[in-house]
Amino acid sequence: MTASRRGTRTIQAAGSPVHLGEGVLHELQRWLLAEAREARKFILGDENSLRQCLPELLAHVAALREAPTIAIPPGESSKSIEVCTALWSHLAGSGAERSSVLIVLGGGVVTDVGGFVGATYMRGIRTVHLPTSLMGMVDAAIGGKNGVDLDGIKNMVGTVRQPAAVYVHIPFLRTLGKRELMNGAAEMLKHGLVLDADHWHAVRAAPWHDLDALTPLIMRSAELKCEVVSRDVQEHGERRLLNFGHSIGHALEAASWEGPHRGLLHGEAVVVGMLCESWLSWRLGLMPREDHDHIAEQLLMRYKHYPFGSSDHHRMLELMSHDKKNQDGRFRFTLLEGIGKGRIDVEVTAAQAAEALDHYRLRAHDVQHHDPQA
Ligand SMILES: NC(=O)c1ccc[n+]([C@@H]2O[C@H](COP(=O)([O-])OP(=O)(O)OC[C@H]3O[C@@H](n4cnc5c(N)ncnc54)[C@H](O)[C@@H]3O)[C@@H](O)[C@H]2O)c1
Ligand SMILES: [Zn+2]
Repeated sequence: MTASRRGTRTIQAAGSPVHLGEGVLHELQRWLLAEAREARKFILGDENSLRQCLPELLAHVAALREAPTIAIPPGESSKSIEVCTALWSHLAGSGAERSSVLIVLGGGVVTDVGGFVGATYMRGIRTVHLPTSLMGMVDAAIGGKNGVDLDGIKNMVGTVRQPAAVYVHIPFLRTLGKRELMNGAAEMLKHGLVLDADHWHAVRAAPWHDLDALTPLIMRSAELKCEVVSRDVQEHGERRLLNFGHSIGHALEAASWEGPHRGLLHGEAVVVGMLCESWLSWRLGLMPREDHDHIAEQLLMRYKHYPFGSSDHHRMLELMSHDKKNQDGRFRFTLLEGIGKGRIDVEVTAAQAAEALDHYRLRAHDVQHHDPQA
């Protein structure tokens, strides 16, 4: 890690610099002048990120003032190949060249789509991520995974390709709603659970609405993600730690958009996934009961119980069977050995996964929910 005079910290993620802290937009201006002065620059965002964050970006980064902007509709439905086709055509029609730079300003949806379009347009143009959601800052914009959903299955098509750089400007979060903040906090909690018990305790106890209190925790989460990605960029092993909560979480997220209830955000589904997978960690004898009880109590205190019926199980197991981590038709989950210590590649049967879902469905709402932010 390096630190500059202005308080910017730079961490490497698989050879790609992630700039954090004060002065990152100044750092971006400097990079554009040094590395892309003559290049054509395009700013991609969704309607919200462009409305809320573009004025601040342009106020600090004069080198982008002439750059055309491209807006996609907000929301997961923009993670589609149709949106990518429209963006490839738009770039081609606007004369984007191999030397052009795609500046991606938005949450995880925009960085996933922008990362993929940037990786594939003319076989790859320089892509710079400016995450604007908490999910983007601590997770989605870091590590190079990008892509779109296919036939209701998340992230089925995509690549792993590092952006030219990531600039994490935390003040962008000022306009982010509470639900979105809690969504991103779920991934920070996950980082703590699989990698760093101190981080878990710091995040679970922090006032999430207070950006000053959150800032060092965002930086720590981003750092944990950078470290794991740097050690295992292609996800041959350790990077799978970050999938804790996601085997069940991804299936629930997809199923929630098909059913009668409101759809779940990614992080909200991951919270249910972490509850189920913490329970499995105890049930399979990997983690002590007290650790499970503590995790369940803390998560259920912050996040409301999500009601789903037993009839949803079949669909969720079907969705889980598409998980890229499975081998030979068997589920492979990342579980916990304790708080701060994940274990990858644990074989889980469909019956055990169903049992975990049942446990959540029937028992979890017994725990009192109270919102410490209210
Ligand atoms: N590639 C990865 O490694 C990775 C990791 C985690 C998540 N993801 C993906 O990220 C996506 C979720 O990301 P997300 O939670 O950021 O969702 P998102 O991009 O949809 O953003 C959430 C909402 O907040 C709005 N928004 C963003 N920044 C804002 C701001 N500063 N002010 C006001 N509104 C703002 C967006 O317009 C959107 O409506 C999922 O598709 C998930 O699969 C990818
Ligand atoms: Zn996630």
